[in-house]
Amino acid sequence: MPTPCMLASFAKRLEGKVALITGGASGIGESTAKLFVQHGAKVAIADVQDDLGYSLCNSIDSDYVHCDVTKETDVQNAVDTTISKHGKLDIFFSNAGISGNLDPTISSINYEDFKRVFDVNVYGAFLAAKHASRVMIPAKRGSIIFTSSVASVSFGDVTHTYAASKNAVVGLTKNLCVEMGIHGIRVNCISPFGVATPMMRKVIGDVDSKTVEALISESANLKQVSLETNDVSEAALYLGSDASKYISGLNLVVDGGYSTTNVAFRQTITQSFT
Ligand SMILES: NC(=O)c1ccc[n+]([C@@H]2O[C@H](COP(=O)([O-])OP(=O)(O)OC[C@H]3O[C@@H](n4cnc5c(N)ncnc54)[C@H](O)[C@@H]3O)[C@@H](O)[C@H]2O)c1
Repeated sequence: MPTPCMLASFAKRLEGKVALITGGASGIGESTAKLFVQHGAKVAIADVQDDLGYSLCNSIDSDYVHCDVTKETDVQNAVDTTISKHGKLDIFFSNAGISGNLDPTISSINYEDFKRVFDVNVYGAFLAAKHASRVMIPAKRGSIIFTSSVASVSFGDVTHTYAASKNAVVGLTKNLCVEMGIHGIRVNCISPFGVATPMMRKVIGDVDSKTVEALISESANLKQVSLETNDVSEAALYLGSDASKYISGLNLVVDGGYSTTNVAFRQTITQSFT
């Protein structure tokens, strides 16, 4: 006999909603597109990887639109195409992102890499917000969700450029939630710990997903489980659904407590006495 709690988790939590997901062809975006469709949403996937995007949208009954988030006309077109097909936009999940140059030292900073990372991770988020709000303000409702990173709450593990870009996303989330609140629109972001996606595989050095997962799990705070793309998608599902109707301006950290601790002291003591 299913309990009320089990029934709630089976229920379609996005029935009647329309969502647009950037970076939707791969990794966290792909898994979120699948979860949103399972929960009854009409989903438009926007990405620059057209082959992957079309194949995903055919397999989960959704739409695909080519969209480079650094180009305003592309973002505008993705929103307008979604509106002309479905008549509204309830959720804009601005998730596309890149890691950029992987050299962590400040001396390696070069303008081309810095600009590229900020164009995709930050300007792309600004354009998402601009065009989502254009159609959400008249509707007086909507949920804008960004993907930031654990690099917004725990420092030193990633490059300065990537960390700065993801902190900018949190700044945008909090500032924008004030402007959008007047219109009934919620603005939140999600900050995941490492997840074994193609981006993370590239960061770690082109190894297979199992090795990436094992390395991430080893450095994680929370043991016995590993962070999977679907766990991040569940956070997006919550922020996109009416279950979070009074949540705005939140940086929802999905890191198993990683950012609450600093293992350096424990490691130093252990190393000194073993
Ligand atoms: N994987 C992790 O460990 C991790 C941790 C924290 C945050 N993130 C963030 O999660 C988000 C999703 O990354 P992922 O790990 O799923 O990686 P991924 O590489 O699997 O997916 C990123 C997607 O963004 C798309 N993209 C890149 N540039 C684009 C552009 N200019 N326009 C449109 N789409 C573009 C890519 O084609 C790809 O489909 C990113 O913002 C990333 O920074 C990832």
